[in-house]
Amino acid sequence: MEVVIAPAEQLARLAADTIERLLRARPDAVLGLATGSSPLAVYDELARRHAEADLSFARARAFMLDEYVGLPADHPERYRNVIEKEIASRVDFAPGAVQGPDGLADDVVGACAAYEQAIVDAGGVDLQILGIGTDGHVAFNEPGSSLASRTRIKTLTRQTREDNARFFGGDLDQVPTHCLTQGLATIMSARHLVLLATGRGKAEAVHQLAEGPVSAMWPATILQHHPHVTVLVDDAAASRLQLADYYRETFAAKPDWQGL
Ligand code: GLP
Repeated sequence: MEVVIAPAEQLARLAADTIERLLRARPDAVLGLATGSSPLAVYDELARRHAEADLSFARARAFMLDEYVGLPADHPERYRNVIEKEIASRVDFAPGAVQGPDGLADDVVGACAAYEQAIVDAGGVDLQILGIGTDGHVAFNEPGSSLASRTRIKTLTRQTREDNARFFGGDLDQVPTHCLTQGLATIMSARHLVLLATGRGKAEAVHQLAEGPVSAMWPATILQHHPHVTVLVDDAAASRLQLADYYRETFAAKPDWQGL
């Protein structure tokens, strides 16, 4: 696991650089897209590069991490609509190239199995963007999630619903109670994981992620078992890292050709 500590603007550029490098080498790459506020600066940077530097997504495909259950199709906070607004509509993905779990499916179990199969059929995810919840969740794999889980329905914790209430006018009652989420094993199948976290509220989760014991109590800790993980954090999110100086020295001495 590589931990990079840098100002937030630089983190977004580093993530965008990695995605750009992938797309230029392999235009039909498969991306994994995350919602939440953490990736927004990356999406802004990708949209800018699409507009100004000819970065194309025309042959790429993308899979979303998760979706609320039961939000109407036109609800602005439905993750499918959030991803459309924040990135898909700002670049040149082909129609149907971005897929997400179907939070309105009658057959939830069937929809989750179909989603897993769609990812496999696409050849798997090359680069997965991730955020992290204050309780250490990734996607919507809340504490206690099976470390071997696949796409399934989950109940959101009160903590996550409170954290996300800001997207629902601050009204906790408007935040759905259930979601469909890629499982931890699904996420672990992606070839490169790039996790972004900023702000002091994420400091404990980031410490556990990089330095804690692997445990379902901090679901993101499973990433310690992945061979290619990049954790991009600002000073505040890095404030509880025991090895922060080592991570800084390592990144400062890293040759440019290595990339992330
Ligand atoms: C949500 C999403 C996660 C995201 C997390 C953190 O619960 N399902 O994918 O990582 O929130 O969000 P933020 O980046 O806004 O802090």
